[in-house]
Amino acid sequence: MKKTFLKLGKQPLANSFLSNLTKKLLRQEFFYNLNVSFNSKNFLVSVSNPVNPKLQYTDNYAHRASESATMRNAFKQTARKLKKRFNPKIILEIGSNDGVFIKNFNRKKVIAVEPCKNLANLTKIRYKTFPNFWDKKLAYKIFKKSKKADLIFSANTISHIPNLNETFQAINYSLSEKGVLVIEDPSLFSVIKNNSYDQFYDEHVYVFSTLSISKVVEEFDLRLFHAEHIQTHGGSMRYYICKKDAIYRKSKKLISILKSERNNKLHKYITFKKFSIRVQKSKKALKKIFKKLKNKGNKIISYGATYKSTTVFNYCNIDSKLIDYVTDTTLNKQGRFTPGMHIPIISPEKGMNESVNYAFLGAWNFKKEIFRKEKILLNKGLRFISHVPWPQIIGK
Ligand code: TYD
Repeated sequence: MKKTFLKLGKQPLANSFLSNLTKKLLRQEFFYNLNVSFNSKNFLVSVSNPVNPKLQYTDNYAHRASESATMRNAFKQTARKLKKRFNPKIILEIGSNDGVFIKNFNRKKVIAVEPCKNLANLTKIRYKTFPNFWDKKLAYKIFKKSKKADLIFSANTISHIPNLNETFQAINYSLSEKGVLVIEDPSLFSVIKNNSYDQFYDEHVYVFSTLSISKVVEEFDLRLFHAEHIQTHGGSMRYYICKKDAIYRKSKKLISILKSERNNKLHKYITFKKFSIRVQKSKKALKKIFKKLKNKGNKIISYGATYKSTTVFNYCNIDSKLIDYVTDTTLNKQGRFTPGMHIPIISPEKGMNESVNYAFLGAWNFKKEIFRKEKILLNKGLRFISHVPWPQIIGK
């Protein structure tokens, strides 16, 4: 049974950066109520009323995984690790974005699936790329006459697809008998520990726990046999899944992760209800910091036009009265305005200088990389505001 535990208010699509603020565009801006619920049957935490994916994954999709050195490096290491362990001959990636993962493989071995055509166009020159949503129809089209995949990889994508039946049935069809499905997604345990409620936005239909993934895949004759913690996106999990009767044995690591999640009651509604109370307090504390700093005449900006900060700004009602602008390295975010709160986005070259007193760390998941980059300004007194794990001012 599904029960709502968190209400994050009226929210726009996290990636719908506006090209201008004309009345027409503002009238057309799409909003929905972001409620998050817990299913006591399979322990799934999900957005209560998911948005239609066709509205989200358009041909203007902004996110480019290759933008960050941290992500480029993470995917390179992952590819190396998976090659060494499984030596795959046919690799399917679901949600290949700008090719940040597949570029680490021999192009003849790779099949990429990416519904956003602007992104699919980036990889189709070198890699076999299907510019489609992942579903059974596509799986049949790709694998009906060819050998099945012995590695299916999908990072930050499965959690975005509302229809898990369609997704996993298509995966089961496409996976070879000894094949392995490896998925990476933000970790629910990390969200609870960090109070990172901004992991909830329209695209993150699910934030999985190991307990929930284990239950869900069993419904599709698949089996979770290993899991590991990874650092990306502020705390994620990598899950290793095979067919029910495949040879892989359940790892000790997986047993200990499942035990730890049970000990921390990730299978109980009360855990999420308590989290929701902390989130409401976090909102109040963050607004207090902003107002205090602003009243003292400080210039506050935001660092990284992340999807996560769409949730924070709209939930906490933080707009251009509090934040002068947002800086972001992504070319197609620059010159636009943030969804819902309409704060201008500019390049770091233009926006990061000594006039800035405080920067909200929208991209808190890249704190190390950003602090390294902004060392000089930090030494000159720049300070960051972060809401994870609790609203505070940080520096150095
Ligand atoms: P991302 O981590 O994908 O977060 P989300 O999924 O919430 O959108 O986005 C990080 C954003 O931050 C991306 O737009 C690039 C930007 N960024 C900078 O502007 N400067 C930096 O130094 C880094 C690391 C990222």
